[in-house]
Amino acid sequence: EICDLIRGQVPLDKWPAEFFRVDDNIRRADMLLGTPHEPGKAVRAAIARGRDGMLAEMKLSNLRGRGGAGFTTAVKWEACRNAPATPRYIVCNADEGEPGTFKDRVLLQSYAGRVFEGMVIAAWTVGASHGFLYLRGEYLYLLQPLEAYLAGMRAAGLLGRDIGGVAGFDFDIEIHLGAGAYICGEETALIESLEGKAGRPRVRPPFPVTSGYMGKPTVVNNVETLCKVTEIAINGGAWYEAIGTKQSTGTKILSVAGDCARPGLYEYAFGVRIAQVLEDCGAQEAIAVQVSGASGVCLSEREFGRRIAFEDVPTAGSFMIFGKQRDLFEVARNFAHFFAHESCGFCTPCRVGTVLMKEIMDKIAEGRGTQYEMNELLRLQQVLKPGSHCGLGQTAGNAVADTVQKFRPAYERRLAETDFVPAFDLDAALS
Ligand code: NAI
Ligand code: SF4
Repeated sequence: EICDLIRGQVPLDKWPAEFFRVDDNIRRADMLLGTPHEPGKAVRAAIARGRDGMLAEMKLSNLRGRGGAGFTTAVKWEACRNAPATPRYIVCNADEGEPGTFKDRVLLQSYAGRVFEGMVIAAWTVGASHGFLYLRGEYLYLLQPLEAYLAGMRAAGLLGRDIGGVAGFDFDIEIHLGAGAYICGEETALIESLEGKAGRPRVRPPFPVTSGYMGKPTVVNNVETLCKVTEIAINGGAWYEAIGTKQSTGTKILSVAGDCARPGLYEYAFGVRIAQVLEDCGAQEAIAVQVSGASGVCLSEREFGRRIAFEDVPTAGSFMIFGKQRDLFEVARNFAHFFAHESCGFCTPCRVGTVLMKEIMDKIAEGRGTQYEMNELLRLQQVLKPGSHCGLGQTAGNAVADTVQKFRPAYERRLAETDFVPAFDLDAALS
């Protein structure tokens, strides 16, 4: 049924109501999610600061990208602004595909004004004339309301020609729908897809800031990053910098899901401990938390004192909780299947490595695994990480490697069931 909806085979007025419900499970803090949005206020504030002034506030804020990597936004914007070629582009990466991450969906559903105004402010600062919102294919149901929002912004003079009454400040936004490939969340694969090609990651450098869409300077920012930009435009960089930790300023929105009483979106100042989040969402019997999705890190109980921050546990936003009834081997096996399916197939370490990893996990699940397979899993991780062309392959083995190291009994239980003895020990033969 959902596939039919996504393929556009069901008219929008026949869609089930729950697709349009405003998420009522948002845990408001007094930051982004708690402050009311006044349309146009952030854009007017940015224009009043001037292009140089807005960039200066961005530098002061030390805002870092919320898509996961945490690159400094002002550095990216400045590099694009200084790139001589024109036109310049702003791309909002809304291809939110990381398993367990749903914050961007809610931001687009309930806070679209902040996202689009963040794009307008980025355009003002770097001198861009055109923007794209690259919307995850599965979020098709958001397309119509977002188009309607853009039409409203055009009518209010917040998009189009002479924005905010400034002669020559022309900028408009186009929505581009993805087709369901996880790899298109990688910024250069996304740009390829925008250009109408298959979503394959490019070689970087050059980075998109100098050579992006159509080879022109392009800023690619995550949905949440652009929302934060509106706060900085209104309140200033120093105000923003005072929140969070020294290296990770401001707040982070977490998509909290799994074995807890109160799943939903939570916004915290950076530096919050894992244990605090678990307490707030009512997760009393957690044995593990997978932070930052399938490509992230699996934390065991002894690590619940660690902090959400780029200098400790960085995250794109996913916070998946596993209670004591969960089998962490099955969790990792599920991730292994996910990566084997989503690998774009461009480079050999990832194309072959992710499939081998999946097959070894299946073999262990079937009770045909030995210590040899356990070693092979870790060896594959050593090939995937340094040898893969892009972040997908480089992180594809994280969950398996983490659970092998931290939840070994979950694997050992299955090995104990096996009576399979390898006919040939490759390690022994090679040594
Ligand atoms: P990266 O660190 O290579 O780049 C981050 C950003 O900084 C990019 O926009 C890049 O263009 C820019 N950049 C880096 N060096 C630069 C330079 N010298 N000059 C100008 N710009 C520069 O990280 P990458 O590969 O883009 O993203 C990996 C992250 O994506 C991971 O941390 C992972 O958590 C996250 N991720 C997020 C998902 C989601 O659904 N939000 C899905 C999968 C992964
Ligand atoms: Fe494609 Fe994987 Fe290589 Fe990335 S690492 S280019 S997803 S095959």
